[in-house]
Amino acid sequence: MSLPALRSFERQIERQLRLFEIRKNLIERKIERQVRLFETKRGGIGKKIEAQIRQFEKKRGIRLDDEVRFIRSWIERPLTIGAVTPSGKILARTMARYVDPNSNGPVVELGPGTGPVTEALVKAGVAPERLVLVEFNPGFCRLLRARYPQATVVQGDAYGIRRLLETLLIQPAAAVVSGLPLVTKPIRQRLRLVRDALDLMLPGAPFVQFTYSVAAPLPRRLGGFSVESSERIWMNIPPARVWVYRKP
Ligand SMILES: C[S@@+](CC[C@H](N)C(=O)[O-])C[C@H]1O[C@@H](n2cnc3c(N)ncnc32)[C@H](O)[C@@H]1O
Repeated sequence: MSLPALRSFERQIERQLRLFEIRKNLIERKIERQVRLFETKRGGIGKKIEAQIRQFEKKRGIRLDDEVRFIRSWIERPLTIGAVTPSGKILARTMARYVDPNSNGPVVELGPGTGPVTEALVKAGVAPERLVLVEFNPGFCRLLRARYPQATVVQGDAYGIRRLLETLLIQPAAAVVSGLPLVTKPIRQRLRLVRDALDLMLPGAPFVQFTYSVAAPLPRRLGGFSVESSERIWMNIPPARVWVYRKP
């Protein structure tokens, strides 16, 4: 290729690159606009639902604060929250029933949300100062600290339970109760969480998990722990089942 031809080729490439940059900037701006629009719409839907709930509360003369908080968080992060409303009382009581209030050691709750299971645990006789509540959502953490000032509230990722709790727990946990939307995670991550939790617990202590799913949160064949489950709780919305795993 002669030198002038090479220069012309170079100029052509430069032109193409400039064109590419302009197109890229245009597409980026378009995406930003779409994201902003989506955010505004999402906020709008949230406010609309909230207004409807307030209207419902006014008509019925009741307050649904926790439900409103929960729905807002669900609109913001549906997969992390994993449910549209907090657990009902029967489900919460069923979970709490697997924890012996007279056992020794901390009782850890993963993903307590607005605290329906926490409340059931306290009502069942678990002293609030024994509770270690691990919650991702900072708003829920503030609420839990205000409601259970004697409990230890840890804001963090429950899937990192080993790192989060190994220095915080001064003795093995008497139980771990989980409201995490476990089935949204890959099997390997679920297994790691349950195994890490069991390692922080006394032998035979329960890891209690609820799920709306028809299948068990962990396949029995993966073994290494004993498994039991409750009846399906049809009175919960949606119906749920409680699964309990223990290290032999
Ligand atoms: C299905 S809700 C259950 C809330 C409450 N236990 C109940 O029964 O109503 C799941 C909760 O787990 C929390 N969560 C989800 N992923 C988490 C994580 N990786 N670490 C800590 N909390 C998490 C959510 O913020 C939410 O509060």
